[in-house]
Amino acid sequence: MNETLSLLAGRCSLRSYADKPVTDEEKEQIINSAIRAPTAGNMMLYSILEVSDPEKKKRLVTTCDKQPFIAKAPLVLLFMADFQRWYDYYEYSEVDGLCRENGVEFVQPAESDLLLANCDALIAAQNAVIAAESLGIGSCYIGDIIENIEIHREMFALPAYVFPTIMVCFGHHKENDTRKVYSPRLDKKYVCFENSYRRFTDEEFSEMWSGHDQFVCRKKNYLKNSTNFGQHTYLRKTGAAFSDEMRRSVEVALKIWCGKT
Ligand SMILES: Cc1cc2nc3c(=O)[nH]c(=O)nc-3n(C[C@H](O)[C@H](O)[C@H](O)COP(=O)(O)O)c2cc1C
Repeated sequence: MNETLSLLAGRCSLRSYADKPVTDEEKEQIINSAIRAPTAGNMMLYSILEVSDPEKKKRLVTTCDKQPFIAKAPLVLLFMADFQRWYDYYEYSEVDGLCRENGVEFVQPAESDLLLANCDALIAAQNAVIAAESLGIGSCYIGDIIENIEIHREMFALPAYVFPTIMVCFGHHKENDTRKVYSPRLDKKYVCFENSYRRFTDEEFSEMWSGHDQFVCRKKNYLKNSTNFGQHTYLRKTGAAFSDEMRRSVEVALKIWCGKT
């Protein structure tokens, strides 16, 4: 394995950090690497916001589904889908006048633009995560940042065409904490296809998630009255209150982004 492949194979999420800052130089390297990420049409449809205010970090613990380690993370970066910069620039560039002259509509951002900008934001975030890892700095994504859109818009002064796609906590490993917990992944045969998608048989499902089942439910402590890993995961994730909040929040965000409010 080369260095990059071993770095990718050796990474896992870090949720407990040494009481040691991420230096300005390290931060610079992480952000420079994020900015070198591929970006749709080289438009850089994202922005990166550092949450350095301890009060804001504390608030995020609550607004992001009660995750206390956010407040303790030495570096917290918010990666946002951003079409606002372009639309402000289009205004500066008098694009509406040009459209009028040519008798064409000056279109406003739609759902597709948000999906594309989210791709940009996520790809930049993953570059940051890998750059940090190469510097010995661990990280953990926070998907719950898409909850509570009203609060997050106000906290970070986000205009209509900026959406908080993903947050990442960064920090050094604690001394003597050499423990790495590698969570399982599905076997490639369930994830990779050639030329066409394939759905799975009951027989395949009976085996597919057994590694995850053993990892997550070592003691078979399924939630409520669930009797298998599918039921347990539904209750823990897809059907859980935080997922409901995500659905509500993103519906609101989409309306704002698409000018439907
Ligand atoms: C989009 C996304 C959102 C995530 N959100 C959270 C989160 O809110 N809290 C958390 O502790 N981990 C979060 N994670 C980390 C995953 O739980 C983690 O990557 C997964 O369990 C696999 O473990 P590993 O990263 O250690 O290999 C998120 C990861 C991704 C990619």
